[in-house]
Amino acid sequence: MDMEKLVSLCKRRGFIFQSSEIYGGINGFWDYGPLGVELKKNIKDAWWQDMVRNPPPGPDGEEIQMVGVDCSIIMNPKVWVASGHVGTFADPMRKCSMCGHFVRADQLWEALALCTWMNSLIQEFTPVTGHIDSPRLLKWAQGKGKRLAPNLALVRNPHVVLSFLATRVNGQPDAPPDLKEMTQYFATEQLHATGLQDPCPVCGAALGDAKPFTLMLESHTGTEKTEESKVYLRPETAQGIFVNFKNVLDSTRLKLPFGIAQIGKAFRNEITPRNYTFRSREFEQMEIEFFCHPEQSMKWYEYWRDVRKGWYTKLGIKSDKLRPREQGDKEVAHYSKATTDIEYLFPFSDEPQELEGVAHRGDYDLKQHMQHSGKDLTYFEEELWAKADKSAYGGDKKKEQEAKSKMPYRYLPHVIEPSAGADRFTLAVLCEAYTEDQAPDEKGVMQERIVMKFHPRLAPIKAAILPLVNKEGMPEIAQKLYRELKAEWNVYYDDGGAIGRRYRRQDEIGTPWCFTIDGQTLQDQTVTIRDRDSLKQERIPIAQVGEEMRRRLRSE
Ligand code: GAP
Repeated sequence: MDMEKLVSLCKRRGFIFQSSEIYGGINGFWDYGPLGVELKKNIKDAWWQDMVRNPPPGPDGEEIQMVGVDCSIIMNPKVWVASGHVGTFADPMRKCSMCGHFVRADQLWEALALCTWMNSLIQEFTPVTGHIDSPRLLKWAQGKGKRLAPNLALVRNPHVVLSFLATRVNGQPDAPPDLKEMTQYFATEQLHATGLQDPCPVCGAALGDAKPFTLMLESHTGTEKTEESKVYLRPETAQGIFVNFKNVLDSTRLKLPFGIAQIGKAFRNEITPRNYTFRSREFEQMEIEFFCHPEQSMKWYEYWRDVRKGWYTKLGIKSDKLRPREQGDKEVAHYSKATTDIEYLFPFSDEPQELEGVAHRGDYDLKQHMQHSGKDLTYFEEELWAKADKSAYGGDKKKEQEAKSKMPYRYLPHVIEPSAGADRFTLAVLCEAYTEDQAPDEKGVMQERIVMKFHPRLAPIKAAILPLVNKEGMPEIAQKLYRELKAEWNVYYDDGGAIGRRYRRQDEIGTPWCFTIDGQTLQDQTVTIRDRDSLKQERIPIAQVGEEMRRRLRSE
């Protein structure tokens, strides 16, 4: 599937627009149009319904306890010190000494593989054998190179660079330089003074060393912009849940295990926002912090990993594009026992990319907030203590207090965190739905069509109501049906143009069903229901349309 076609459809039909487009846009920010906002809302509603209000039964068939919160975006900055974001939430960045371009250190070689000058230069040598043809490289440096990579050492000082390279190639004929080393030679002018350099993907100049670049977006509260008034736009919704753990516990009758969920905006000053909405600077998360007994934490980790993968499949993501990937020892955070990324194979990448992370976070967050706030965030097993045999303490209150203050009665819960991106899943749903096929027009001639095969629960518009012609009482019947259905669902009334064209307009925005009111409706009070995917048309009594929609939405 071609991303450009999807991006164009999303703009044309009002799913996604560039933010502040009339002013040239702003990198990393997006707006959802009339259909996009419905699609994303349906995704968030489905998540809330399936994870918070009606989660699947637990590993032993028991009911799961889940509640929600909606916390402020700006919180006390101490939250972000405790969570570790102020100190460590940063990407290693390298700056070009000549053009000032920044590139993420861990993505440099990916960026070079895609850049124009590198793709041109690579035609002039043989990276596998290390074979170099100096006159050819010289010609490139003095021609195309000057235009494409004016600051590359090979372009600025070709004779010196080529002599260093020839010495290296001839000196170790059995171990020719690989593509990376060769590229570094092309970027190095003063080998003895600097060692091998890495080039800028934009202009070819040597890049500086990697330095941390914070992803936290800052603002200020109050009248003065000082260090004291500095605040952060939250980079994740999770911390709002952790700092409210005690509030939720004290204001409800919840007992462990239970989960707290939140949907909300998060902000990250991503250096290279890219791939449409995939990596944005403002996005929405759907996060759960599931608090449980430490000894049961692996069981809950496995439960949430499987539940979350199953949810994507249930909503129409094909299993061959969906991959749960357990992070390796080196990747996983130091406090985490295990993390699984649920990934989706987007059309813009050869490798599946993260939709959601399911992390076993141990007691890291509660412990951090307990230390930094000085507030007790431990959990007390009241029922266990009430049932405990206390004879061993011989009525000694001090001993009892001591016993109560530790395991198995008091402890910090462990946390399993399924953290999903609402915008990432919206993008995956759009990619998955985009289909080009053929459908017959009114004359039965097959025509190309674009159809968005959304799962009916997610489709922005659930049904279209179409009077075949604008006369003979058909519009009146159609209007009545429309009014009935719109009390329950987002439905659309369309009486403009040939019926085939109206069907195709609905196919392109993924409306699962079209109800057509025609001549026969006037006689027997039936309508046709046309299915977007199978193109099958059936007649059903008009009085049963609502029930039929309810049935189909339940069974899909
Ligand atoms: N509380 C854990 C946490 O925030 P994360 O892996 O950094 O973990 C969770 O983010 C999810 O949020 C990701 O799996 C992704 O779906 C979404 N996300 C993260 N950064 C994003 C960005 N720049 N643009 C869009 N979505 C993003």
